[in-house]
Amino acid sequence: MPERMFSVAQSGWLAVCLWLLLGGSTLAAAFNPTPEALEKNRQANLKCLACHSEAALRQPPKVDLDLKKLRGLIVDPAAFAASSHARLACGKCHTEGYAEHPHAEDAKDMTSTCDDCHSKQARVIEAEFEQSVHADNLTEPMTCLTCHNPHRMQAAKNLKQPDLIVAQDNRVCLGCHDSDATFAQYAPEKKTRPLTDDAHAWLPNARMHWKSVRCVECHTPSNPNTQSHQILSKDKAVKDCVACHSRDSLLSARLYRHLAEEDQRKYGFINSAILGKPYVVGATRNPLLDGIVIALVVLTLVGMLAHGLVRYLAARLRRRKQHD
Ligand code: HEC
Ligand code: HEC
Ligand code: HEC
Ligand code: HEC
Ligand code: HEC
Ligand code: HEC
Ligand code: HEC
Repeated sequence: MPERMFSVAQSGWLAVCLWLLLGGSTLAAAFNPTPEALEKNRQANLKCLACHSEAALRQPPKVDLDLKKLRGLIVDPAAFAASSHARLACGKCHTEGYAEHPHAEDAKDMTSTCDDCHSKQARVIEAEFEQSVHADNLTEPMTCLTCHNPHRMQAAKNLKQPDLIVAQDNRVCLGCHDSDATFAQYAPEKKTRPLTDDAHAWLPNARMHWKSVRCVECHTPSNPNTQSHQILSKDKAVKDCVACHSRDSLLSARLYRHLAEEDQRKYGFINSAILGKPYVVGATRNPLLDGIVIALVVLTLVGMLAHGLVRYLAARLRRRKQHD
Protein backbone atom coordinates (compact mmCIF):
# COMPACT_ATOMS: atom_id res chain seq x y z
CA MET A 1 0.00 0.00 0.00
CA PRO A 2 1.30 3.47 -0.79
CA GLU A 3 1.54 5.72 2.21
CA ARG A 4 -0.91 8.11 0.77
CA MET A 5 -3.11 7.52 -2.27
CA PHE A 6 -3.29 11.14 -3.39
CA SER A 7 -1.29 14.27 -2.72
CA VAL A 8 -3.15 17.33 -1.45
CA ALA A 9 -3.09 18.91 -4.89
CA GLN A 10 -4.31 15.75 -6.55
CA SER A 11 -7.19 15.33 -4.17
CA GLY A 12 -8.18 18.91 -4.87
CA TRP A 13 -8.46 18.08 -8.54
CA LEU A 14 -10.19 14.83 -7.72
CA ALA A 15 -12.80 16.83 -5.83
CA VAL A 16 -13.28 19.06 -8.86
CA CYS A 17 -13.68 16.03 -11.11
CA LEU A 18 -16.21 14.43 -8.76
CA TRP A 19 -18.11 17.67 -8.57
CA LEU A 20 -18.27 17.78 -12.36
CA LEU A 21 -19.29 14.14 -12.57
CA LEU A 22 -22.07 14.78 -10.11
CA GLY A 23 -23.61 17.31 -12.42
CA GLY A 24 -21.69 20.50 -11.80
CA SER A 25 -22.13 23.13 -14.50
CA THR A 26 -18.86 24.59 -15.75
CA LEU A 27 -15.24 24.12 -14.93
CA ALA A 28 -14.95 27.85 -14.36
CA ALA A 29 -17.56 27.61 -11.59
CA ALA A 30 -15.76 24.68 -9.99
CA PHE A 31 -12.35 26.32 -10.16
CA ASN A 32 -12.26 28.50 -7.10
CA PRO A 33 -8.71 29.05 -5.89
CA THR A 34 -7.98 31.12 -2.78
CA PRO A 35 -6.16 34.45 -3.23
CA GLU A 36 -3.08 32.77 -1.75
CA ALA A 37 -3.21 29.97 -4.31
CA LEU A 38 -3.58 32.51 -7.11
CA GLU A 39 -0.57 34.46 -5.89
CA LYS A 40 1.42 31.22 -5.73
CA ASN A 41 0.49 30.44 -9.35
CA ARG A 42 1.47 33.94 -10.41
CA GLN A 43 4.88 33.68 -8.75
CA ALA A 44 5.49 30.24 -10.26
CA ASN A 45 4.55 31.56 -13.72
CA LEU A 46 7.00 34.44 -13.39
CA LYS A 47 9.76 31.82 -13.16
CA CYS A 48 8.80 30.34 -16.54
CA LEU A 49 8.27 33.78 -18.07
CA ALA A 50 11.74 34.83 -16.93
CA CYS A 51 12.90 32.82 -19.96
CA HIS A 52 9.79 32.51 -22.16
CA SER A 53 9.24 36.20 -22.83
CA GLU A 54 10.54 39.03 -25.04
CA ALA A 55 12.23 40.53 -22.00
CA ALA A 56 14.31 37.38 -21.64
CA LEU A 57 15.48 37.59 -25.25
CA ARG A 58 16.79 41.09 -24.60
CA GLN A 59 18.33 40.18 -21.25
CA PRO A 60 18.86 36.41 -20.98
CA PRO A 61 18.71 35.22 -17.35
CA LYS A 62 21.25 32.47 -18.15
CA VAL A 63 24.34 32.49 -20.36
CA ASP A 64 24.01 29.25 -22.30
CA LEU A 65 20.40 29.59 -23.50
CA ASP A 66 19.57 28.69 -27.10
CA LEU A 67 18.08 32.10 -27.90
CA LYS A 68 17.23 31.20 -31.48
CA LYS A 69 15.08 28.32 -30.27
CA LEU A 70 13.66 30.38 -27.42
CA ARG A 71 12.52 33.06 -29.86
CA GLY A 72 9.93 30.61 -31.19
CA LEU A 73 8.73 29.70 -27.70
CA ILE A 74 7.57 33.05 -26.38
CA VAL A 75 4.43 33.44 -24.27
CA ASP A 76 3.10 37.02 -24.15
CA PRO A 77 2.58 37.69 -20.41
CA ALA A 78 -0.10 40.34 -21.02
CA ALA A 79 -2.07 38.09 -23.39
CA PHE A 80 -1.80 35.21 -20.93
CA ALA A 81 -3.00 37.43 -18.08
CA ALA A 82 -6.08 38.34 -20.14
CA SER A 83 -6.78 34.76 -21.24
CA SER A 84 -9.29 32.26 -19.92
CA HIS A 85 -6.40 30.35 -18.33
CA ALA A 86 -4.82 33.34 -16.59
CA ARG A 87 -5.45 31.93 -13.13
CA LEU A 88 -3.78 28.59 -13.84
CA ALA A 89 -0.16 27.76 -13.15
CA CYS A 90 1.84 26.95 -16.29
CA GLY A 91 2.67 23.70 -14.53
CA LYS A 92 -1.00 22.70 -14.41
CA CYS A 93 -0.75 21.91 -18.13
CA HIS A 94 3.01 21.51 -18.51
CA THR A 95 2.85 18.93 -15.80
CA GLU A 96 6.32 17.46 -15.58
CA GLY A 97 9.86 18.00 -16.70
CA TYR A 98 9.85 21.80 -16.96
CA ALA A 99 10.79 22.79 -13.42
CA GLU A 100 14.48 22.78 -14.32
CA HIS A 101 16.28 23.90 -17.43
CA PRO A 102 17.45 22.11 -19.56
CA HIS A 103 13.98 20.57 -19.53
CA ALA A 104 13.44 16.82 -19.50
CA GLU A 105 13.55 15.13 -22.93
CA ASP A 106 10.04 13.76 -22.70
CA ALA A 107 8.50 16.81 -20.98
CA LYS A 108 6.38 17.65 -24.02
CA ASP A 109 4.63 14.28 -23.95
CA MET A 110 3.21 15.06 -20.54
CA THR A 111 1.39 18.25 -21.51
CA SER A 112 -2.30 18.05 -20.57
CA THR A 113 -4.79 18.15 -23.40
CA CYS A 114 -8.03 20.12 -23.34
CA ASP A 115 -10.13 17.07 -22.61
CA ASP A 116 -8.03 16.14 -19.57
CA CYS A 117 -9.71 19.06 -17.82
CA HIS A 118 -12.74 19.92 -19.97
CA SER A 119 -13.88 16.35 -20.45
CA LYS A 120 -17.59 17.10 -20.29
CA GLN A 121 -17.45 19.96 -22.81
CA ALA A 122 -14.91 18.15 -24.97
CA ARG A 123 -17.20 15.13 -25.41
CA VAL A 124 -19.93 17.34 -26.84
CA ILE A 125 -17.48 19.32 -28.96
CA GLU A 126 -15.82 16.22 -30.40
CA ALA A 127 -19.20 14.80 -31.40
CA GLU A 128 -20.08 18.08 -33.13
CA PHE A 129 -16.70 18.24 -34.78
CA GLU A 130 -17.14 14.76 -36.26
CA GLN A 131 -20.07 16.19 -38.25
CA SER A 132 -18.06 19.18 -39.40
CA VAL A 133 -16.81 19.87 -42.93
CA HIS A 134 -13.33 19.80 -41.41
CA ALA A 135 -13.64 16.28 -39.99
CA ASP A 136 -12.80 14.19 -43.07
CA ASN A 137 -10.31 14.24 -45.90
CA LEU A 138 -7.87 16.72 -44.43
CA THR A 139 -4.18 16.05 -45.10
CA GLU A 140 -3.34 17.22 -41.59
CA PRO A 141 -6.16 16.57 -39.12
CA MET A 142 -7.36 19.48 -37.01
CA THR A 143 -7.00 19.39 -33.24
CA CYS A 144 -8.31 21.78 -30.61
CA LEU A 145 -4.94 23.57 -30.85
CA THR A 146 -5.46 24.34 -34.55
CA CYS A 147 -8.02 26.94 -33.49
CA HIS A 148 -7.32 27.54 -29.79
CA ASN A 149 -4.12 28.86 -28.31
CA PRO A 150 -4.37 27.94 -24.62
CA HIS A 151 -2.11 30.90 -23.72
CA ARG A 152 -4.28 33.50 -25.43
CA MET A 153 -7.83 32.30 -25.95
CA GLN A 154 -10.58 34.23 -24.26
CA ALA A 155 -14.03 32.70 -24.03
CA ALA A 156 -16.72 34.77 -25.73
CA LYS A 157 -18.67 34.86 -22.50
CA ASN A 158 -15.77 36.67 -20.83
CA LEU A 159 -15.10 39.03 -23.70
CA LYS A 160 -18.81 39.94 -23.96
CA GLN A 161 -18.20 42.89 -26.31
CA PRO A 162 -19.23 41.82 -29.83
CA ASP A 163 -16.36 43.53 -31.69
CA LEU A 164 -13.72 41.80 -29.53
CA ILE A 165 -15.40 38.40 -29.91
CA VAL A 166 -15.71 38.87 -33.67
CA ALA A 167 -12.06 39.88 -34.03
CA GLN A 168 -10.79 36.85 -32.08
CA ASP A 169 -13.05 34.24 -33.65
CA ASN A 170 -12.77 35.42 -37.26
CA ARG A 171 -8.98 35.52 -36.97
CA VAL A 172 -9.19 31.74 -36.41
CA CYS A 173 -11.13 31.00 -39.61
CA LEU A 174 -9.45 33.64 -41.79
CA GLY A 175 -6.00 32.57 -40.60
CA CYS A 176 -6.58 29.55 -42.82
CA HIS A 177 -9.23 30.65 -45.32
CA ASP A 178 -7.29 33.79 -46.28
CA SER A 179 -3.92 32.03 -46.57
CA ASP A 180 -3.00 29.75 -49.47
CA ALA A 181 -0.06 28.30 -47.53
CA THR A 182 -1.96 27.41 -44.35
CA PHE A 183 -4.98 26.14 -46.29
CA ALA A 184 -2.78 23.90 -48.45
CA GLN A 185 -1.17 22.41 -45.34
CA TYR A 186 -4.57 21.03 -44.25
CA ALA A 187 -6.55 20.72 -47.49
CA PRO A 188 -7.09 17.46 -49.31
CA GLU A 189 -4.55 16.99 -52.09
CA LYS A 190 -5.10 19.14 -55.18
CA LYS A 191 -7.84 21.18 -53.50
CA THR A 192 -7.15 24.88 -53.98
CA ARG A 193 -8.42 27.49 -51.58
CA PRO A 194 -11.81 28.92 -52.58
CA LEU A 195 -11.48 32.70 -52.46
CA THR A 196 -13.45 33.95 -49.47
CA ASP A 197 -14.44 37.18 -51.19
CA ASP A 198 -15.82 35.33 -54.22
CA ALA A 199 -17.77 32.88 -52.05
CA HIS A 200 -19.50 35.83 -50.36
CA ALA A 201 -19.96 38.14 -53.33
CA TRP A 202 -23.75 37.96 -52.72
CA LEU A 203 -23.23 39.69 -49.35
CA PRO A 204 -22.83 43.47 -49.71
CA ASN A 205 -19.41 44.45 -48.42
CA ALA A 206 -18.53 41.07 -46.93
CA ARG A 207 -15.31 42.33 -45.31
CA MET A 208 -17.30 44.98 -43.45
CA HIS A 209 -19.72 42.27 -42.29
CA TRP A 210 -16.81 40.26 -40.89
CA LYS A 211 -15.97 43.14 -38.57
CA SER A 212 -19.50 42.88 -37.11
CA VAL A 213 -20.44 39.19 -37.35
CA ARG A 214 -18.57 35.94 -37.10
CA CYS A 215 -18.15 33.22 -39.69
CA VAL A 216 -19.73 30.81 -37.20
CA GLU A 217 -22.92 32.90 -37.09
CA CYS A 218 -23.78 31.67 -40.60
CA HIS A 219 -21.79 28.45 -40.76
CA THR A 220 -22.88 26.57 -37.60
CA PRO A 221 -26.26 25.45 -36.25
CA SER A 222 -27.57 27.61 -33.42
CA ASN A 223 -27.20 25.88 -30.04
CA PRO A 224 -28.68 27.17 -26.84
CA ASN A 225 -25.92 28.33 -24.44
CA THR A 226 -22.91 26.99 -26.33
CA GLN A 227 -21.04 27.56 -29.55
CA SER A 228 -21.49 24.58 -31.86
CA HIS A 229 -18.32 23.13 -33.39
CA GLN A 230 -20.14 21.66 -36.36
CA ILE A 231 -19.25 23.71 -39.44
CA LEU A 232 -22.05 22.98 -41.90
CA SER A 233 -21.49 22.43 -45.60
CA LYS A 234 -21.80 25.60 -47.63
CA ASP A 235 -25.29 24.83 -48.97
CA LYS A 236 -26.60 24.93 -45.37
CA ALA A 237 -25.09 28.33 -44.49
CA VAL A 238 -27.30 31.32 -43.65
CA LYS A 239 -27.91 33.45 -46.73
CA ASP A 240 -31.01 35.28 -45.59
CA CYS A 241 -30.44 38.97 -44.78
CA VAL A 242 -33.55 39.11 -42.60
CA ALA A 243 -32.20 36.36 -40.33
CA CYS A 244 -30.00 39.10 -38.87
CA HIS A 245 -31.50 42.35 -40.07
CA SER A 246 -34.75 42.07 -38.20
CA ARG A 247 -36.08 42.77 -34.77
CA ASP A 248 -35.56 39.21 -33.53
CA SER A 249 -32.18 38.76 -35.12
CA LEU A 250 -30.44 35.40 -34.83
CA LEU A 251 -27.56 37.41 -33.39
CA SER A 252 -29.36 37.83 -30.07
CA ALA A 253 -29.11 34.06 -29.54
CA ARG A 254 -25.46 34.02 -30.60
CA LEU A 255 -23.08 36.94 -30.75
CA TYR A 256 -25.10 39.20 -28.44
CA ARG A 257 -25.93 36.38 -26.01
CA HIS A 258 -23.37 37.56 -23.47
CA LEU A 259 -24.56 41.16 -23.38
CA ALA A 260 -27.01 42.49 -20.84
CA GLU A 261 -30.53 42.40 -22.28
CA GLU A 262 -30.56 46.17 -22.47
CA ASP A 263 -27.41 46.38 -24.62
CA GLN A 264 -28.60 43.44 -26.67
CA ARG A 265 -31.67 45.38 -27.70
CA LYS A 266 -29.49 48.36 -28.53
CA TYR A 267 -27.28 46.38 -30.93
CA GLY A 268 -30.13 44.43 -32.47
CA PHE A 269 -32.32 47.48 -32.76
CA ILE A 270 -29.77 49.67 -34.54
CA ASN A 271 -29.45 47.00 -37.19
CA SER A 272 -33.16 46.58 -37.68
CA ALA A 273 -33.87 50.31 -37.55
CA ILE A 274 -31.40 51.15 -40.29
CA LEU A 275 -31.64 48.04 -42.35
CA GLY A 276 -35.28 47.09 -41.94
CA LYS A 277 -35.92 49.72 -44.58
CA PRO A 278 -35.68 47.91 -47.87
CA TYR A 279 -34.07 50.78 -49.76
CA VAL A 280 -30.97 50.73 -47.52
CA VAL A 281 -30.45 47.02 -48.08
CA GLY A 282 -31.15 47.36 -51.78
CA ALA A 283 -29.05 50.42 -52.41
CA THR A 284 -25.98 49.54 -50.44
CA ARG A 285 -22.64 50.76 -51.62
CA ASN A 286 -24.24 51.92 -54.84
CA PRO A 287 -21.68 54.32 -56.36
CA LEU A 288 -24.31 56.16 -58.39
CA LEU A 289 -26.45 56.79 -55.32
CA ASP A 290 -23.41 57.81 -53.28
CA GLY A 291 -22.48 60.21 -56.10
CA ILE A 292 -25.93 61.77 -56.15
CA VAL A 293 -25.94 62.24 -52.37
CA ILE A 294 -22.49 63.85 -52.43
CA ALA A 295 -23.52 66.10 -55.34
CA LEU A 296 -26.62 67.19 -53.40
CA VAL A 297 -24.54 68.06 -50.34
CA VAL A 298 -22.02 70.01 -52.42
CA LEU A 299 -24.78 71.87 -54.28
CA THR A 300 -26.46 72.79 -50.99
CA LEU A 301 -23.18 74.15 -49.61
CA VAL A 302 -22.47 76.15 -52.77
CA GLY A 303 -26.03 77.49 -52.66
CA MET A 304 -25.65 78.60 -49.04
CA LEU A 305 -22.30 80.29 -49.74
CA ALA A 306 -23.64 82.07 -52.82
CA HIS A 307 -26.69 83.24 -50.90
CA GLY A 308 -24.47 84.64 -48.10
CA LEU A 309 -22.19 86.37 -50.60
CA VAL A 310 -25.07 88.05 -52.41
CA ARG A 311 -26.52 89.30 -49.11
CA TYR A 312 -23.08 90.62 -48.04
CA LEU A 313 -22.53 92.46 -51.34
CA ALA A 314 -26.05 93.89 -51.29
CA ALA A 315 -25.50 95.20 -47.75
CA ARG A 316 -22.20 96.85 -48.76
CA LEU A 317 -23.84 98.45 -51.77
CA ARG A 318 -26.61 99.82 -49.56
CA ARG A 319 -24.07 101.26 -47.08
CA ARG A 320 -22.10 102.94 -49.90
CA LYS A 321 -25.25 104.49 -51.24
CA GLN A 322 -26.04 105.91 -47.78
CA HIS A 323 -22.51 107.47 -47.58
CA ASP A 324 -22.86 109.10 -51.01
C1 HEC B 1 16.28 29.21 -17.73
C2 HEC B 1 15.35 29.46 -18.78
C3 HEC B 1 14.06 28.68 -18.82
C4 HEC B 1 13.15 28.54 -17.82
C5 HEC B 1 13.17 29.07 -16.40
C6 HEC B 1 12.06 27.76 -18.38
N1 HEC B 1 12.31 27.45 -19.69
FE1 HEC B 1 11.17 26.37 -20.95
N2 HEC B 1 12.58 26.44 -22.38
C7 HEC B 1 13.76 27.17 -22.31
C8 HEC B 1 14.50 27.01 -23.56
C9 HEC B 1 15.82 27.67 -23.89
C10 HEC B 1 13.74 26.15 -24.37
C11 HEC B 1 14.14 25.65 -25.78
C12 HEC B 1 14.51 24.21 -25.80
C13 HEC B 1 15.55 23.83 -24.77
O1 HEC B 1 16.61 24.47 -24.71
O2 HEC B 1 15.28 22.93 -23.98
C14 HEC B 1 12.55 25.81 -23.61
C15 HEC B 1 11.52 25.00 -24.06
C16 HEC B 1 10.27 24.90 -23.45
C17 HEC B 1 9.09 24.28 -24.04
C18 HEC B 1 9.02 23.65 -25.42
C19 HEC B 1 9.47 22.25 -25.36
C20 HEC B 1 9.41 21.56 -26.68
O3 HEC B 1 9.93 20.44 -26.73
O4 HEC B 1 8.85 22.10 -27.66
C21 HEC B 1 8.08 24.39 -23.13
C22 HEC B 1 6.65 23.87 -23.29
C23 HEC B 1 8.62 25.05 -21.96
N3 HEC B 1 9.95 25.35 -22.20
C24 HEC B 1 7.87 25.35 -20.83
C25 HEC B 1 8.41 25.89 -19.68
C26 HEC B 1 7.68 26.05 -18.44
C27 HEC B 1 6.24 25.64 -18.24
C28 HEC B 1 8.52 26.63 -17.56
C29 HEC B 1 8.26 26.96 -16.11
C30 HEC B 1 7.86 25.85 -15.28
C31 HEC B 1 9.79 26.85 -18.25
N4 HEC B 1 9.69 26.37 -19.53
C32 HEC B 1 10.90 27.43 -17.68
C33 HEC B 1 14.15 27.94 -21.24
C34 HEC B 1 13.54 28.00 -20.00
C1 HEC C 1 -4.35 25.38 -20.22
C2 HEC C 1 -3.11 24.71 -20.42
C3 HEC C 1 -1.84 25.51 -20.55
C4 HEC C 1 -1.36 26.49 -19.71
C5 HEC C 1 -2.02 27.04 -18.47
C6 HEC C 1 -0.09 26.89 -20.23
N1 HEC C 1 0.21 26.17 -21.37
FE1 HEC C 1 1.89 26.33 -22.52
N2 HEC C 1 1.11 25.01 -23.86
C7 HEC C 1 -0.05 24.31 -23.69
C8 HEC C 1 -0.25 23.44 -24.83
C9 HEC C 1 -1.41 22.50 -25.03
C10 HEC C 1 0.85 23.66 -25.70
C11 HEC C 1 1.11 23.03 -27.07
C12 HEC C 1 1.86 21.75 -26.92
C13 HEC C 1 2.04 21.09 -28.25
O1 HEC C 1 2.07 21.76 -29.28
O2 HEC C 1 2.17 19.87 -28.24
C14 HEC C 1 1.70 24.64 -25.05
C15 HEC C 1 2.90 25.10 -25.57
C16 HEC C 1 3.82 25.86 -24.86
C17 HEC C 1 5.12 26.25 -25.32
C18 HEC C 1 5.74 25.82 -26.64
C19 HEC C 1 5.58 26.89 -27.66
C20 HEC C 1 4.19 27.13 -28.10
O3 HEC C 1 3.69 28.26 -27.87
O4 HEC C 1 3.58 26.24 -28.69
C21 HEC C 1 5.70 27.03 -24.34
C22 HEC C 1 7.06 27.68 -24.34
C23 HEC C 1 4.72 27.15 -23.27
N3 HEC C 1 3.60 26.42 -23.62
C24 HEC C 1 4.92 27.86 -22.11
C25 HEC C 1 3.94 28.14 -21.17
C26 HEC C 1 4.10 29.06 -20.07
C27 HEC C 1 5.34 29.85 -19.76
C28 HEC C 1 2.90 29.08 -19.39
C29 HEC C 1 2.51 29.91 -18.20
C30 HEC C 1 2.66 31.35 -18.32
C31 HEC C 1 2.01 28.14 -20.06
N4 HEC C 1 2.67 27.61 -21.15
C32 HEC C 1 0.72 27.85 -19.64
C33 HEC C 1 -0.93 24.41 -22.63
C34 HEC C 1 -0.83 25.32 -21.60
C1 HEC D 1 -5.10 21.71 -16.49
C2 HEC D 1 -6.49 21.84 -16.83
C3 HEC D 1 -6.87 22.55 -18.10
C4 HEC D 1 -6.47 22.27 -19.39
C5 HEC D 1 -5.48 21.25 -19.86
C6 HEC D 1 -7.25 23.16 -20.24
N1 HEC D 1 -8.06 23.95 -19.48
FE1 HEC D 1 -9.37 25.34 -20.16
N2 HEC D 1 -9.80 25.89 -18.25
C7 HEC D 1 -9.33 25.26 -17.12
C8 HEC D 1 -9.86 25.93 -15.94
C9 HEC D 1 -9.60 25.54 -14.48
C10 HEC D 1 -10.66 26.99 -16.41
C11 HEC D 1 -11.41 28.03 -15.56
C12 HEC D 1 -10.46 29.15 -15.27
C13 HEC D 1 -11.02 30.22 -14.36
O1 HEC D 1 -12.20 30.21 -14.06
O2 HEC D 1 -10.22 31.11 -13.97
C14 HEC D 1 -10.61 26.93 -17.87
C15 HEC D 1 -11.28 27.79 -18.71
C16 HEC D 1 -11.41 27.61 -20.07
C17 HEC D 1 -12.31 28.36 -20.93
C18 HEC D 1 -13.25 29.48 -20.50
C19 HEC D 1 -14.37 29.14 -19.61
C20 HEC D 1 -15.08 27.83 -19.78
O3 HEC D 1 -15.21 27.11 -18.78
O4 HEC D 1 -15.59 27.49 -20.85
C21 HEC D 1 -12.15 27.87 -22.19
C22 HEC D 1 -12.91 28.30 -23.43
C23 HEC D 1 -11.13 26.84 -22.14
N3 HEC D 1 -10.71 26.71 -20.83
C24 HEC D 1 -10.69 26.13 -23.22
C25 HEC D 1 -9.63 25.22 -23.18
C26 HEC D 1 -9.00 24.63 -24.35
C27 HEC D 1 -9.45 24.88 -25.78
C28 HEC D 1 -8.02 23.83 -23.90
C29 HEC D 1 -7.02 23.02 -24.72
C30 HEC D 1 -6.18 23.80 -25.60
C31 HEC D 1 -8.00 23.90 -22.45
N4 HEC D 1 -8.99 24.76 -22.06
C32 HEC D 1 -7.15 23.20 -21.62
C33 HEC D 1 -8.50 24.17 -17.08
C34 HEC D 1 -7.87 23.62 -18.17
C1 HEC E 1 -23.78 36.23 -43.55
C2 HEC E 1 -23.49 34.82 -43.51
C3 HEC E 1 -22.07 34.37 -43.72
C4 HEC E 1 -20.94 34.81 -43.06
C5 HEC E 1 -20.85 35.86 -41.97
C6 HEC E 1 -19.85 34.04 -43.58
N1 HEC E 1 -20.30 33.17 -44.53
FE1 HEC E 1 -19.15 31.84 -45.59
N2 HEC E 1 -20.74 31.38 -46.75
C7 HEC E 1 -22.04 31.79 -46.53
C8 HEC E 1 -22.90 31.20 -47.55
C9 HEC E 1 -24.41 31.40 -47.67
C10 HEC E 1 -22.06 30.43 -48.40
C11 HEC E 1 -22.46 29.63 -49.65
C12 HEC E 1 -22.38 30.58 -50.82
C13 HEC E 1 -22.82 29.95 -52.10
O1 HEC E 1 -22.77 28.73 -52.22
O2 HEC E 1 -23.20 30.72 -52.98
C14 HEC E 1 -20.71 30.55 -47.85
C15 HEC E 1 -19.59 29.91 -48.38
C16 HEC E 1 -18.38 29.79 -47.73
C17 HEC E 1 -17.29 28.92 -48.11
C18 HEC E 1 -17.30 27.91 -49.25
C19 HEC E 1 -16.53 28.42 -50.43
C20 HEC E 1 -16.55 27.45 -51.59
O3 HEC E 1 -16.82 27.92 -52.69
O4 HEC E 1 -16.31 26.26 -51.39
C21 HEC E 1 -16.27 29.11 -47.22
C22 HEC E 1 -14.91 28.43 -47.20
C23 HEC E 1 -16.72 30.12 -46.28
N3 HEC E 1 -17.99 30.51 -46.61
C24 HEC E 1 -15.96 30.60 -45.23
C25 HEC E 1 -16.34 31.69 -44.44
C26 HEC E 1 -15.45 32.36 -43.53
C27 HEC E 1 -14.02 31.97 -43.28
C28 HEC E 1 -16.18 33.37 -42.95
C29 HEC E 1 -15.74 34.39 -41.94
C30 HEC E 1 -14.65 35.25 -42.31
C31 HEC E 1 -17.52 33.32 -43.50
N4 HEC E 1 -17.57 32.30 -44.41
C32 HEC E 1 -18.54 34.17 -43.14
C33 HEC E 1 -22.48 32.62 -45.51
C34 HEC E 1 -21.65 33.33 -44.65
C1 HEC F 1 -12.15 25.04 -36.58
C2 HEC F 1 -11.75 25.73 -35.40
C3 HEC F 1 -12.01 25.12 -34.04
C4 HEC F 1 -11.63 23.88 -33.58
C5 HEC F 1 -10.90 22.78 -34.34
C6 HEC F 1 -12.03 23.82 -32.19
N1 HEC F 1 -12.63 25.00 -31.82
FE1 HEC F 1 -13.38 25.45 -30.00
N2 HEC F 1 -14.17 27.18 -30.72
C7 HEC F 1 -13.93 27.70 -31.98
C8 HEC F 1 -14.61 28.98 -32.10
C9 HEC F 1 -14.60 29.89 -33.32
C10 HEC F 1 -15.28 29.19 -30.87
C11 HEC F 1 -16.16 30.39 -30.46
C12 HEC F 1 -15.54 31.20 -29.38
C13 HEC F 1 -16.34 31.19 -28.10
O1 HEC F 1 -17.55 30.94 -28.10
O2 HEC F 1 -15.73 31.47 -27.05
C14 HEC F 1 -14.96 28.06 -30.02
C15 HEC F 1 -15.40 27.92 -28.70
C16 HEC F 1 -14.94 26.95 -27.81
C17 HEC F 1 -15.25 26.88 -26.41
C18 HEC F 1 -16.19 27.82 -25.67
C19 HEC F 1 -17.58 27.31 -25.91
C20 HEC F 1 -18.67 28.10 -25.23
O3 HEC F 1 -19.80 27.90 -25.67
O4 HEC F 1 -18.39 28.87 -24.32
C21 HEC F 1 -14.61 25.80 -25.90
C22 HEC F 1 -14.62 25.29 -24.46
C23 HEC F 1 -13.89 25.17 -27.00
N3 HEC F 1 -14.10 25.90 -28.14
C24 HEC F 1 -13.12 24.04 -26.87
C25 HEC F 1 -12.63 23.31 -27.95
C26 HEC F 1 -12.05 21.97 -27.83
C27 HEC F 1 -11.91 21.20 -26.54
C28 HEC F 1 -11.70 21.60 -29.09
C29 HEC F 1 -11.11 20.27 -29.53
C30 HEC F 1 -11.89 19.08 -29.22
C31 HEC F 1 -12.04 22.71 -29.99
N4 HEC F 1 -12.61 23.70 -29.25
C32 HEC F 1 -11.80 22.73 -31.35
C33 HEC F 1 -13.18 27.11 -32.97
C34 HEC F 1 -12.65 25.82 -32.93
C1 HEC G 1 -6.39 25.22 -40.40
C2 HEC G 1 -7.19 25.55 -41.54
C3 HEC G 1 -8.65 25.86 -41.40
C4 HEC G 1 -9.28 26.55 -40.41
C5 HEC G 1 -8.69 27.17 -39.15
C6 HEC G 1 -10.66 26.64 -40.80
N1 HEC G 1 -10.86 25.98 -41.99
FE1 HEC G 1 -12.60 25.80 -43.03
N2 HEC G 1 -11.71 24.58 -44.37
C7 HEC G 1 -10.38 24.25 -44.39
C8 HEC G 1 -10.13 23.29 -45.45
C9 HEC G 1 -8.79 22.67 -45.80
C10 HEC G 1 -11.37 23.09 -46.12
C11 HEC G 1 -11.66 22.16 -47.30
C12 HEC G 1 -12.14 20.84 -46.77
C13 HEC G 1 -12.51 19.86 -47.85
O1 HEC G 1 -12.61 20.23 -49.01
O2 HEC G 1 -12.70 18.68 -47.50
C14 HEC G 1 -12.34 23.94 -45.42
C15 HEC G 1 -13.66 24.04 -45.78
C16 HEC G 1 -14.57 24.96 -45.21
C17 HEC G 1 -15.89 25.24 -45.72
C18 HEC G 1 -16.49 24.70 -47.01
C19 HEC G 1 -17.44 23.60 -46.82
C20 HEC G 1 -18.04 23.13 -48.13
O3 HEC G 1 -19.24 22.81 -48.12
O4 HEC G 1 -17.33 23.11 -49.15
C21 HEC G 1 -16.46 26.16 -44.87
C22 HEC G 1 -17.86 26.75 -44.97
C23 HEC G 1 -15.48 26.44 -43.84
N3 HEC G 1 -14.34 25.70 -44.08
C24 HEC G 1 -15.68 27.33 -42.81
C25 HEC G 1 -14.77 27.55 -41.77
C26 HEC G 1 -15.05 28.34 -40.58
C27 HEC G 1 -16.35 29.02 -40.31
C28 HEC G 1 -13.92 28.31 -39.82
C29 HEC G 1 -13.69 28.96 -38.46
C30 HEC G 1 -14.50 28.47 -37.37
C31 HEC G 1 -12.93 27.53 -40.52
N4 HEC G 1 -13.48 27.07 -41.69
C32 HEC G 1 -11.63 27.29 -40.07
C33 HEC G 1 -9.42 24.73 -43.53
C34 HEC G 1 -9.66 25.48 -42.40
C1 HEC H 1 -25.17 36.98 -39.72
C2 HEC H 1 -25.93 38.19 -39.64
C3 HEC H 1 -26.08 39.06 -40.90
C4 HEC H 1 -26.54 38.63 -42.12
C5 HEC H 1 -27.02 37.23 -42.55
C6 HEC H 1 -26.53 39.81 -42.97
N1 HEC H 1 -26.08 40.89 -42.25
FE1 HEC H 1 -25.80 42.78 -42.96
N2 HEC H 1 -24.99 43.36 -41.18
C7 HEC H 1 -24.96 42.60 -40.05
C8 HEC H 1 -24.37 43.37 -38.97
C9 HEC H 1 -24.18 42.93 -37.52
C10 HEC H 1 -24.03 44.63 -39.52
C11 HEC H 1 -23.38 45.81 -38.81
C12 HEC H 1 -24.45 46.77 -38.36
C13 HEC H 1 -23.91 47.87 -37.46
O1 HEC H 1 -22.72 48.13 -37.49
O2 HEC H 1 -24.73 48.44 -36.75
C14 HEC H 1 -24.44 44.60 -40.92
C15 HEC H 1 -24.32 45.65 -41.80
C16 HEC H 1 -24.90 45.68 -43.05
C17 HEC H 1 -24.88 46.82 -43.92
C18 HEC H 1 -24.16 48.12 -43.68
C19 HEC H 1 -24.91 49.17 -42.99
C20 HEC H 1 -23.99 50.33 -42.76
O3 HEC H 1 -23.98 50.82 -41.63
O4 HEC H 1 -23.27 50.72 -43.68
C21 HEC H 1 -25.60 46.50 -45.04
C22 HEC H 1 -25.88 47.36 -46.22
C23 HEC H 1 -26.05 45.13 -44.88
N3 HEC H 1 -25.60 44.66 -43.66
C24 HEC H 1 -26.80 44.43 -45.79
C25 HEC H 1 -27.04 43.06 -45.75
C26 HEC H 1 -27.63 42.28 -46.81
C27 HEC H 1 -28.15 42.85 -48.13
C28 HEC H 1 -27.66 40.98 -46.41
C29 HEC H 1 -28.14 39.74 -47.17
C30 HEC H 1 -27.59 39.54 -48.49
C31 HEC H 1 -27.08 40.95 -45.06
N4 HEC H 1 -26.70 42.22 -44.71
C32 HEC H 1 -26.94 39.80 -44.29
C33 HEC H 1 -25.39 41.28 -39.93
C34 HEC H 1 -25.82 40.48 -40.98
